[in-house]
Amino acid sequence: MKNKRKKIAVFASGNGSNLQALINHSLAKDINGDISIVFSNNPEAYALKRAANHSIKTYCFSQKDFDSRKDFDRKILELMLINEIDLICLAGYMLLLNNEFIKEYENRIINIHPSLLPSFKGMHGIKDAFEYGVKVTGVTVHFVDSELDHGPIIIQKAVEIGENDTVETLEEKIHKTEHFIYPLAIEYFCKDLFEINGRKVSISEREKIED
Ligand code: GRF
Repeated sequence: MKNKRKKIAVFASGNGSNLQALINHSLAKDINGDISIVFSNNPEAYALKRAANHSIKTYCFSQKDFDSRKDFDRKILELMLINEIDLICLAGYMLLLNNEFIKEYENRIINIHPSLLPSFKGMHGIKDAFEYGVKVTGVTVHFVDSELDHGPIIIQKAVEIGENDTVETLEEKIHKTEHFIYPLAIEYFCKDLFEINGRKVSISEREKIED
């Protein structure tokens, strides 16, 4: 039986180039799912504009609009349930999710991080790797658990840092790689191809990742 198209929510606080890649792939039907809603905690996020350009429903509010962080999280969770969201994709979402939220969507929240985890966790993965002087960095797509940049790894792809690279050129290379592997990971999810055993994620009928 053919899988039902999944309903996807994307959380983004900034530019939203990864959101755009997911939208493009979903429109091209490479992903058996639709970006149903976009949530941002930042009213200035360009991601909101990108969503609006494709008539995707958007929600935007910040923690400041609520009495407590708990109420803020509860509101977001409520929106996920009302919209019957199957999968949440974090794409440059600058807030940590709380445990209650993660439990409710266990193994259904995915994040993209601009380094080869567990190296260079945190907000400045690209710059930190560049300044450390590593010759190879990359991109990681992983499930979200209660620790920062820590959950089971779905896909990683390496990016070489050449003699002539600058942080800016490295950023370009990393984003290009992100826009390739994030949609791929979501495609696997939407085809129900993942099997998760502890930290190990296996992908059945795995397709070869090519540049
Ligand atoms: C990406 O580098 C992603 O890996 C990180 O935040 C950045 C978001 O970029 N989590 P964009 O907003 O998708 O352009």
